[in-house]
Amino acid sequence: MTSITVNGLYKVFGKHPQAAVKALQSGTTRQELRKKGSTAAVIDATFEVQPGEIFVVMGLSGSGKSTLIRMLNGLLPATAGEVTIDGQTLTSMNESEIRALRREKISMVFQSFALLPHRTVGENAAYGLEIKGVNPSERKQKADEALRMVGLEGWGTSMPDELSGGMQQRVGLARALAADTEVLLMDEAFSALDPLIRKEMQDQLIDLQSSLGKTIVFITHDLNEAMRIGDHIAMMRDGRVEQVGTAEEILRDPANNYVASFVKDVDRSRVLTAESIAEQPPEVVGLSQGPLTAQKLMRESQSSWIVALNRDRTPA
Ligand SMILES: Nc1ncnc2c1ncn2[C@@H]1O[C@H](COP(=O)(O)OP(=O)(O)OP(=O)(O)O)[C@@H](O)[C@H]1O
Ligand SMILES: [Mg+2]
Repeated sequence: MTSITVNGLYKVFGKHPQAAVKALQSGTTRQELRKKGSTAAVIDATFEVQPGEIFVVMGLSGSGKSTLIRMLNGLLPATAGEVTIDGQTLTSMNESEIRALRREKISMVFQSFALLPHRTVGENAAYGLEIKGVNPSERKQKADEALRMVGLEGWGTSMPDELSGGMQQRVGLARALAADTEVLLMDEAFSALDPLIRKEMQDQLIDLQSSLGKTIVFITHDLNEAMRIGDHIAMMRDGRVEQVGTAEEILRDPANNYVASFVKDVDRSRVLTAESIAEQPPEVVGLSQGPLTAQKLMRESQSSWIVALNRDRTPA
């Protein structure tokens, strides 16, 4: 199983990116850089993705999510900082080493589907295997299996433009599944799906991760989706990672006002466990000790309530 570490990672678009990183490090703001014609898309990102987890990246449009995920497989070179995959430093590899790593270890589902328009759905699904050099019959078998998993059984001979947006998105997903790599990078991979299929896909992803132990980085705008599938969630704002934590940690203890306002409308009952909102009882009393004892203990502890326990100390 594969882990990903990200350390002090920056991406600046525009003029003099290296100088812009230095400026950011000495306190220049993103807005000030913007006026000078540079966009700081990712600023000093540091986090770790555990092997076999679903790591969700959340944030508003333009916060740097796609830029970040594209640096995790070397599609975009970093301006500064380090990415390691399974201990191998991606950010110091050459182009052919990066291509080999992508072929062997990392698949990506793109926000914009990125299907090959002149190839059939089946060929698109098999594309990752084709560049790996897998033979045609095995390719077809794995692609058919992946298409079945995303609910597109029987669509293999159609062309992409005969499919709806949501179906095309599922072909992109099938391609990543067929490639069967340890790492899956998913950029808004479910955004074009209707709610019912979306939920089905979320469940399937959780299954996949737990049965095959894949390491998944998943970008979404949708907070409920993030809370539902994420083992850890990174909250991004204006290029910066503001907080990384479990859904529960983020709800219970948001790092700042921005994160707090972001999560204020989430359905807490789906995330918080009873334990995390439980209070210690002020006093307990054995059921057999009777109401007078209970009353005395309550008076002594100046409490308006008490928990009565059975002999085995379960609440009565
Ligand atoms: N190739 C590029 N050249 C210049 N600027 C870019 C480029 N790609 C992204 N940016 C800028 O970087 C910032 C972050 O963009 P990015 O696409 O990473 O955001 P995002 O969080 O994925 O947004 P969305 O949710 O809309 O997909 C934006 O200000 C964007 O304009
Ligand atoms: Mg994006």
